[in-house]
Amino acid sequence: MRIQTPEDLDSVRKNGLKKIQPGRPRIGIGTSSCGIAVGGIALYDRINEIVQNENHDISLVKTGCIGFCKEEPIVSVSIPGKALVLLRKVHQEDAEKVISLALQGDVPSDRVLCKISDWDHITGNLVYGNGFDSIPEYEEIPFFAHQKKVILRDSGLINPEDIDEYIGIGGYFASFKALTSMEPDAIIDEVKRSGLRGRGGAGFPAGLKWEITKKAPGEEKYIVCNADEGDPGAYMNRNEMESDPHMLLEGMLIGAFAMGVHEGLIYIRAEYPLAIERLMLALEQARLYGLLGKNIFNTGFDFDIRIATGAGAFVCGESTALAASIEGKTGRPRLRPPRLTEKGVFGKPTDLNNVETWCNVPVIIAKGASWYSSIGAKGNTGTKVFSLVGKVDNVGMVEVPLGTSLHSIIYDIGNGGALGREVKAVQTGGPSGGCIPVRLFDTPVDFENLNKVGTMMGSGGLVVMDEDTNMVDIARYFINFASGESCGKCVPCREGLKHMLLILNRIVAGKGTHEDINLLKELSETVQKTSLCGLGQTAPNPVLTTMQYFLEEYDDLISPEA
Ligand SMILES: Cc1cc2nc3c(=O)[nH]c(=O)nc-3n(C[C@H](O)[C@H](O)[C@H](O)COP(=O)(O)O)c2cc1C
Ligand code: SF4
Repeated sequence: MRIQTPEDLDSVRKNGLKKIQPGRPRIGIGTSSCGIAVGGIALYDRINEIVQNENHDISLVKTGCIGFCKEEPIVSVSIPGKALVLLRKVHQEDAEKVISLALQGDVPSDRVLCKISDWDHITGNLVYGNGFDSIPEYEEIPFFAHQKKVILRDSGLINPEDIDEYIGIGGYFASFKALTSMEPDAIIDEVKRSGLRGRGGAGFPAGLKWEITKKAPGEEKYIVCNADEGDPGAYMNRNEMESDPHMLLEGMLIGAFAMGVHEGLIYIRAEYPLAIERLMLALEQARLYGLLGKNIFNTGFDFDIRIATGAGAFVCGESTALAASIEGKTGRPRLRPPRLTEKGVFGKPTDLNNVETWCNVPVIIAKGASWYSSIGAKGNTGTKVFSLVGKVDNVGMVEVPLGTSLHSIIYDIGNGGALGREVKAVQTGGPSGGCIPVRLFDTPVDFENLNKVGTMMGSGGLVVMDEDTNMVDIARYFINFASGESCGKCVPCREGLKHMLLILNRIVAGKGTHEDINLLKELSETVQKTSLCGLGQTAPNPVLTTMQYFLEEYDDLISPEA
């Protein structure tokens, strides 16, 4: 069936809603990579086996990740008329109990995390029901209470492998509105007024980049989604694609129409097989409904998306290296200008945006720029998804309004250090970022304030360090990573990082001198100022920030005789 009219879309919506609320118990198993890593698929298979063999009237689905990765495998149990209950750390041996209790309208009390009585999917609202009085509401769990879900609004609640469920909660209605009732320039204007800034790290205004691409001369253009996500500790984009792939496709569809582009590409690392699998399935389903392909929504507009896989080179996330890699060339950055918007993929004007940037677009169109810009801080509107990892108690996927303090993320949401240890610092921005000490945790997380303390937003990895972490070793880890990922094209990055690593190895081995520390600082500044691309320009940040905030740890490693 091709969706062409509002009636078509509404009929799929009703069908999708019936799948989410089927009028019989529905069990959803968290099967994003985090859930699968701790037995999510084995649990799904076991429940499926019992349901099939015993012919139970239960709907079993795979869901994405609801964010609390520490508690995976998370299972949702929805009984008609009752609140949806989230269960934590459910394993194969719990399968029979979960099923038999669900059939009796109950849940295993020893696995309960919280309940959801109703849910704002932003593009639609779902009322589950009441009951389970002794179970805390979702908002009462500190990990969830301090978050605001915009990008992750559907994650863990809908089946990412079924387009009907995305449409069921209002998905693709924003693209229908954009394509059938908005002028392309009005869409760009809406995105500009929303204040959306690129979520890939640099924070460039998305609407402005769209406008530049649209105005670039030439008929043939591309839009590209950057799903390379190579930063150690970052897995936001992977989760977004695994949990809600249609949100990304819909964002790209709206962007393509606004810019008058007919070809889209998703550049994704080959190390993300599940995300690729779910994206391929989502593309196929969208094509079947006519949401990609020719004459979308009967408007005469044609657009399709292809997937290009990278091979896990961090530098290929850099815009010009990414374009070269898509063209089948070695992924090596080149001088800019020309920027991608003038000369991008196959030499054509190209708009490149991060996964999460695209994912913001459907809600901006659905709810409007004023709604969107009321979230977050001035100049830093909307939310940001972070992967909160390292030595923190509550490891998981966290979404907060921009401008939220690091303190709130690490203590209110993360519950401080793992195993009761004292948190010492947090690393933001991956290999391009820096380490911020606890005393600066009042810093609001936004593009400018993170820069002021010597680090950067990056794409959203937050790696927590505790009292046992040696900060020089952390600096060494990141320089080792950056040096290994350097493409070798320019001397400061290729040779400079290698020498920085040698010095750091010496210091960590207790063989360094005070002169080494001075040389390390000098080299860092030179590499920063003279490298050709962002990799080299930002790679020294972990060294510079650990020197700025934890110099005593360097000094402690220098022997008194040195
Ligand atoms: C070494 C390096 C790696 C990068 N890796 C990524 C990445 O994995 N994902 C991403 O979106 N942006 C990455 N970027 C930033 C991109 O070059 C680009 O700014 C971004 O994709 C633009 O999208 P946005 O405006 O939506 O943020 C990287 C930049 C550098 C220098
Ligand atoms: S800075 Fe590093 S990664 Fe970038 S072009 Fe130079 S050598 Fe290659």
